[in-house]
Amino acid sequence: MTAPILETRALEKRFGGVRAIAGVDFRLEPGELRCLIGPNGAGKSTFFKMVTGQIPPTSGSILFQGTDISRAEKHEIGRLGIGIKNQVPDVFNGVALRENLWLAARFAHGAAKAGTLADAMMERLELSSLANRPVGELSHGQRQWVEIGMVILRDPKIVLLDEPSAGMSIDETNRTAALIREVNRTATVVVVEHDMQFIRQIATKVTVFHQGSILAEDSFDRIMTDQRVRDVYLGRHGGA
Ligand SMILES: Nc1ncnc2c1ncn2[C@@H]1O[C@H](COP(=O)(O)OP(=O)(O)OP(=O)(O)O)[C@@H](O)[C@H]1O
Ligand SMILES: [Mg+2]
Repeated sequence: MTAPILETRALEKRFGGVRAIAGVDFRLEPGELRCLIGPNGAGKSTFFKMVTGQIPPTSGSILFQGTDISRAEKHEIGRLGIGIKNQVPDVFNGVALRENLWLAARFAHGAAKAGTLADAMMERLELSSLANRPVGELSHGQRQWVEIGMVILRDPKIVLLDEPSAGMSIDETNRTAALIREVNRTATVVVVEHDMQFIRQIATKVTVFHQGSILAEDSFDRIMTDQRVRDVYLGRHGGA
């Protein structure tokens, strides 16, 4: 087995009495395209936020390429090479599309190269005609792509995407799946999604979260036929 690019050990997050993440041992191999699924409140976003230093773990550890990042700051983790598109958008709505991309490109590559890189990213996202439009005026799907573009421009080794296709049309969802597969050629990717059709298009291995723990981990097809997973989605929490 290769050394994991990302690993968590007994990772735990409590919010008051809620164990949002309840002892998660997670391993991700370099080059994977992993999907995380699970019902609302399962802890998926909380897990992503801990891995990216947005919230500190209550206990347990997070290792990135063997280095303990459990207590590292958000900006340090970004510099080390973990990029995230959060579930709630964090683009600058009042700022033009090109400017948003330019700012992300400058962060990783410096001002001299930022313009060329921003323009290339707009081409790749097929959004060049909207370069000077404030991001707040774009469609929901277009804003998601801008955010994914901003993450990629920082050249992360791991890309975490929290619900990238939520609220998209079927056409937009298909384009997003293609974009994610392309990103996966150069980066390890983890995607949180609820849309099973979308997951079917991209998934190799699926991890199922339930009540803060990993319930199952397997191929998409096996997960879809796993009775425990079906029960969780139907709201039957065992013991019945
Ligand atoms: N900042 C917070 N303060 C208190 N409780 C929180 C906070 N963030 C999350 N929680 C709780 O932690 C649990 C996990 O939430 P989380 O947002 O990680 O779930 P999720 O799997 O991402 O759900 P969804 O699919 O709806 O996005 C929930 O019970 C939620 O209410
Ligand atoms: Mg979430």
